[in-house]
Amino acid sequence: MPAPELFDYFPADAAAWISETPLRAEYARLMRGFHRPIPWEQTHAPSLAPEVRAELGRIWGERIPTEYRSITGFSTLSFDFIAAGAPVDLVAVCHRVCIDELRHTELAVKMVDVYGGHRPPLPREISSLPADASLTAVAQASRSAILLSCLGETFACTELAMLRDRAVDPVVRGVLTIFLSDEIVHARVGWAYLAHALRTADDATLRSVAEVVPEYVAGIGRNLFGSDDAPAAVEVTNDDARLAAHGVCSMREEQELYRKFVPEVFLPGLRAVGVPVDVEAALAALPAMPVVAPAAT
Ligand SMILES: [Fe+2]
Ligand SMILES: [Fe+2]
Repeated sequence: MPAPELFDYFPADAAAWISETPLRAEYARLMRGFHRPIPWEQTHAPSLAPEVRAELGRIWGERIPTEYRSITGFSTLSFDFIAAGAPVDLVAVCHRVCIDELRHTELAVKMVDVYGGHRPPLPREISSLPADASLTAVAQASRSAILLSCLGETFACTELAMLRDRAVDPVVRGVLTIFLSDEIVHARVGWAYLAHALRTADDATLRSVAEVVPEYVAGIGRNLFGSDDAPAAVEVTNDDARLAAHGVCSMREEQELYRKFVPEVFLPGLRAVGVPVDVEAALAALPAMPVVAPAAT
């Protein structure tokens, strides 16, 4: 039997920035993961107006460095977990997240191809998590878990669920389904760590974890929506309703979702796992609405 080709394993049939060594076959198996293949040939991209295609290519291009960079965030979290004596299943799943983020990078590259965009150069940015040497290892790991996983990844789940549900294009639905099912695992890593570690944490640790929550809420808000002095870190929204069938929402919808997510999901979740968060201070840290003007009709 002939040796399987890369595309027999891989959800996207062309891998980005791949080596020419035998490890490419192992890589392809990792990228395939547990996921169903995507019906690439069913894309609606060829029937789109050129400006809509170009904008979708741009949006997927913006996702490439974000997905790739999050590998480094979860690598750091795995160091924090090991330093804090986290159980091995949490450490292992944290490493799985890094592989998943590579899969997302690959899928974003493929989507840029689908919409006819240009593949950007291999990203080299490293994301750094806030670190404080005066903290205990458990407090540091808990803070990192909250920022990256409980806030960042859990919000990503709510947004992906919304985007996937509105998507009509079968390729977009397939890709966003893979993203969503991976991101649910990424969110669970943080919640599971807090549920485990905070059961036995002392009051000083709990307080030092809780006190940073408002600034994390504000920080992610600034990244997503920009502030008076800086634009959003990643611009993947668009007010053009034609893009909704391809899994895009407006910035206003994203803001509204974040303003619901924090009080209805994030803060109750933190309290449930024992973080004595000041709910009022955290809500006051939410970005004001509307940061952007509503879409013209
Ligand atoms: Fe991702
Ligand atoms: Fe993720």
